[in-house]
Amino acid sequence: MLNQDLGRGRGVYISTYGCQMNTNDTERMLALLEMMNFVPVESPDRASLIIINSCSVREKPVHKVRSEVGHYKDWKAKNPDLRIGVGGCVAQQEKAKLLKDIPVLDFAFGTDAIDQLPEIVARAYESKEKQVSARFENDKPYSIETMVRNPGVAAFVNITKGCDNFCTFCVVPFTRGRERSRSLKELVTDIKSLVARGVREVTLIGQNVNSYKSECGTDFANLMRTLAEETDIQRIRYTTSHPKDFNQELVDISAKYRSKICDYIHLPAQSGNTEVLRRMNRGYSREEYLDKVAMIRQGIPGVVLSTDIIVGFPGETEAQFEDTRSLLETVRYENIYAFKYSPRPFTKAARYTDQVPESDSKRRLQILLDRQREIAFELGEPYSGQTYDVLFEVKAQIPDQIQGRTTHNKLVYAVGPDSLIGQTRRVHVTKAFPNVLHGEILNQNAGALL
Ligand code: SAH
Ligand code: SF4
Ligand code: F3S
Repeated sequence: MLNQDLGRGRGVYISTYGCQMNTNDTERMLALLEMMNFVPVESPDRASLIIINSCSVREKPVHKVRSEVGHYKDWKAKNPDLRIGVGGCVAQQEKAKLLKDIPVLDFAFGTDAIDQLPEIVARAYESKEKQVSARFENDKPYSIETMVRNPGVAAFVNITKGCDNFCTFCVVPFTRGRERSRSLKELVTDIKSLVARGVREVTLIGQNVNSYKSECGTDFANLMRTLAEETDIQRIRYTTSHPKDFNQELVDISAKYRSKICDYIHLPAQSGNTEVLRRMNRGYSREEYLDKVAMIRQGIPGVVLSTDIIVGFPGETEAQFEDTRSLLETVRYENIYAFKYSPRPFTKAARYTDQVPESDSKRRLQILLDRQREIAFELGEPYSGQTYDVLFEVKAQIPDQIQGRTTHNKLVYAVGPDSLIGQTRRVHVTKAFPNVLHGEILNQNAGALL
């Protein structure tokens, strides 16, 4: 039973690190806590309940948990009502140890324990006992209804949880558990109800969305087809897709339903060298990755690609790094997310003995970022003078302007009335920067273009 009185007069503040999975989990936590009448507040000093939704993909965000809690350390003396908890991947990974290391914490809860949050919080107020809930629910079917309090134009929808790939650098299989997919039926119903609430665009999220498999055997390509055919959603995006699971069928369905399935694919390469990819356990070679890129570009001409790269993976030689550098030249991504390798607990690569010195990783990262900046500028220029359909999502920070995105996920700013939010308009691009376009709305008074 939900204690609806518990939150009355109490503010809740959640800080969120990490990926879209965590962003969506935070929204779910807030929705659950609002049912107990907690009121979300903008700053932690106004909160009676502070939760840190943590990420452990690299060492840096893990440190942030400790430094953020450090700020709140003395607040309890002034406010005995204050409760502090940690959720997300660090909590999942460290469990009770986290509470032992940081005595000011009242509770820690893992990535499968979000729906238990109301009881966890109730206990945190009712008893002084510290609590840890970090069991994986691997045996239960993955069934959740998307919880969004005030849906905007775009929403994230979880389609899978967990990961079974065990890339040797990655902690996620240990923090999110085994891979499970939601049922096709549940997803169709979920997205229909989001559409009824005004959502126009969904981003399907999961660690490896294209290994989606519903209990009736539907794969990711057919999930996309079903959503495109059976729901009135206007745009579908997805992230993250794994190169090894990207197949021709998905390309064909993306091409067939191009008006709905967006022309933007995030396809993490991690490295451009086959030997490094093998040691990473990625399941593809450089050539196979490039074949996938060619297959995608042939089936969906003009599609925009982005990627994730790790530099300084254990044993990465200068020549192997050169292969990654040359991958940028060959593929010409519009955007890359590049990181220095960070050894993670439980992972195989953390035990590799040939760790790369920090100074080499740092230099390699800089080389990639510098070159990518140039490529992004070169690829950005041709957008200027073109006309695109833009789905407007929110008011911009700039006065009188609204912002939206093209199918390629390019952010667009244009002068226009708030009444166009949620609608698609033709926009003529007057100025193009690598990730941001400025433009003029051509058909401001036209009916919505679907
Ligand atoms: N499931 C996604 C990646 C999720 S983690 C995929 O398979 O592509 C997001 C990104 O963080 C990864 O793509 C990788 O580039 C980076 N990453 C993961 N573990 C890392 C580590 N130990 N050190 C540095 N970067 C890492
Ligand atoms: Fe991590 Fe690899 Fe799974 Fe991505 S696919 S979450 S990098 S183990
Ligand atoms: Fe971080 Fe966990 Fe996401 S480790 S990247 S929050 S799955």
